[in-house]
Amino acid sequence: MRGGSLLIEVLLVFLWCCLSTAVAGNAGNSPDCKLEYFQSLTKDLKKFDNSDLSKYQNIASKLENCLSESRTDLYLFKNEIYYKMGLIHLSMGNDMKAMNAFEELQGLGDSYYNLSKDRLSDLYTEFGLWDHLRMLLPDDDTGDIFRSLNSTLYQKINDPTKFSTIDDELVPMLNISPYDIETLTIRADFLFHKLIESEHFNDLTVAYEIARIFETILEKHKIRLSLDKRIQMHYTISLLQLLVLNIEPTQHIRKCLAIDMDYKPCKELSLLVSRLNKINPTRAQLFDTQTYISKNDIDWDKIVNYYMIKKRDGVINYEWIRNKIVQLINDNTDLLVKDRAITNHLFETCVKEPLVDNADNFAFFRYLEIILCQANMELSLSNSKNRENYKKNMDRICKKTLKDTLTAEEWGDFINVLNKKDAQLSEEFLNKIWNMYPTLSIYMISKIISRKNFKQFNGQLQDLIIKFFNDNNLFNTMNPFIQKEASVVQKIQDKKQKLNEQRQRQRQQQQQQQQRQFFQQFGQQQQHQQRAPPPPPAHNTDKDYYKILNVSKDSNSKEIRKAYLNLTKKYHPDKQGSLSENDQKKIHEKMSEINEAYEILSDGSKRTDYDNSRNGGGAGGHHRQQGNGNDWFNFQAQGNPFPFGNMRGGF
Ligand SMILES: *[C@@H]1O[C@H](CO)[C@@H](O)[C@H](O)[C@H]1NC(C)=O
Ligand SMILES: *[C@@H]1O[C@H](CO)[C@@H](O)[C@H](O)[C@H]1NC(C)=O
Ligand SMILES: *[C@@H]1O[C@H](CO)[C@@H](O)[C@H](O)[C@H]1NC(C)=O
Ligand SMILES: *[C@@H]1O[C@H](CO)[C@@H](O)[C@H](O)[C@H]1NC(C)=O
Repeated sequence: MRGGSLLIEVLLVFLWCCLSTAVAGNAGNSPDCKLEYFQSLTKDLKKFDNSDLSKYQNIASKLENCLSESRTDLYLFKNEIYYKMGLIHLSMGNDMKAMNAFEELQGLGDSYYNLSKDRLSDLYTEFGLWDHLRMLLPDDDTGDIFRSLNSTLYQKINDPTKFSTIDDELVPMLNISPYDIETLTIRADFLFHKLIESEHFNDLTVAYEIARIFETILEKHKIRLSLDKRIQMHYTISLLQLLVLNIEPTQHIRKCLAIDMDYKPCKELSLLVSRLNKINPTRAQLFDTQTYISKNDIDWDKIVNYYMIKKRDGVINYEWIRNKIVQLINDNTDLLVKDRAITNHLFETCVKEPLVDNADNFAFFRYLEIILCQANMELSLSNSKNRENYKKNMDRICKKTLKDTLTAEEWGDFINVLNKKDAQLSEEFLNKIWNMYPTLSIYMISKIISRKNFKQFNGQLQDLIIKFFNDNNLFNTMNPFIQKEASVVQKIQDKKQKLNEQRQRQRQQQQQQQQRQFFQQFGQQQQHQQRAPPPPPAHNTDKDYYKILNVSKDSNSKEIRKAYLNLTKKYHPDKQGSLSENDQKKIHEKMSEINEAYEILSDGSKRTDYDNSRNGGGAGGHHRQQGNGNDWFNFQAQGNPFPFGNMRGGF
């Protein structure tokens, strides 16, 4: 959005300039200092890119020699040049350089100055440069709101009992100033702390958010960061991507090595990743359901040979790799947790203990296990003399992975279905596993339908599985293992269909007979009974975000932002310490609600979704907040790591 409107503005400004050139007439003191001369230099600049930028730079320095008090015309022209340079910097994402360019403009009351002032005030706000903003716009109180949030934030940083509500300040602060480096750093630290304190070290949302914050800092503050700091951030993002998010960390490893080719942690990681990439199937082949059921030419033999063969010190290679990664992290614990100036006390205890106690929880190891599960599954169909071995390995590995993946309750349900004649699985559960780990759901189903009495009993379970195969197009798969299962399911389906048809015929006959009896008795036709109309859709219980922010439905992003700031100020008095616990809780709830409303309404596409779900009369129309597991894997399969800039509000 921003890019688009920026481009239009650039075009308009350039158009305006050409018109004004035609009108303005002027004579300079020396032939070289004529306004027309400078204007002619800019005539052909229309590309708005780096090459134009350097030409503008040239013109600006030539112009500098001609400036004098009497030359208002040249000062105005200078404003024009610097405003355009600022726009070009902005469109290339160089906010800091844009700021410098806009600051060059003189307050001459011209429209370029006015426009650049608007741009500057946005930039100062985004970067949290409150002193600058105060000088530019003495009446603007956004800085006061921010500082008040900041002071509560610092109270909470030093009070462990208040950590849990720290986002009440961090989120509005980042909504106001998405590039304030101090606030970004604090939030990343807190999320990182949350991640390593949690037992599982596998919270995707948290890991994703940390990586995104680091990427924002790296992009927006690159010049200000030391090389060490940058390397460290690239390395941390790479680890999070590889281990927790299970996506390719190539980009950040490359950037890390571009800064220091010999940096050992990145070098080791890079070697490992490229080695495994040569062996492994792609993530899409395992996690994207469409790709998963289509034909592939993966060399499963090679995979099993690589991972399952005992190599160094009699350890099978898979274990060796696993241990290697755990060691790699533990060796670099310091790197991950040191240098946290503001939040250092949070990490004091972590440093002493290894960061990873239980590496089983890493999504990356799950991915490797699923590769091995799938490989043995495929090879168990082969004609090799090792066939029985593959079958055994499949059971061992798939079962362990499945158990690690499921909650205890889900695992219990699965075991019940295997052992009890009339136990049933929920469709939702089966679909969830399918969308997260197709391999595991196929394994589950293969176990269920190979159950001794599956073919004779439990019509409900049979129906569920038939529906699952139909819904997910599994009767048309190119995957041989699924084909094998599908042929069993197909037979059951055919049999059921025949049985159904038979029953239906019987029922019709019975009905006809009853009707005949009825007519014989009363001699009149029975009215066909209408089914009751379906109940109206459940009342829309969604929150009214417009009401929460007290704005009208057609308000623009600026108005929404204003209302948000207003409410933030109102509900965030800088005296939380002295409020009763109950009042603090109420404020926390109110702030969460306001933040949620702002998150949706300030984001063009989220707002549209929300509006549609409320107007469209969709049943229930419940608005989805965060991606579910399903989205995660679609998102990974698309290989689109971190879309940038969605934190930027409606400036
Ligand atoms: C620039 O802003 C000032 C003050 O807001 C205003 O008086 C002036 O007319 C504006 N100039 C243009 C060209 O719009
Ligand atoms: C936030 O508070 C801390 C601690 O009081 C202070 O050092 C820092 O300058 C404040 N930041 C802003 C933007 O007010
Ligand atoms: C809602 O906004 C209107 C003006 O836009 C204002 O008069 C009113 O006080 C606001 N209500 C609340 C609860 O802030
Ligand atoms: C800001 O809040 C005050 C009351 O707290 C209200 O009177 C005013 O209309 C609000 N302004 C906007 C733009 O919502």
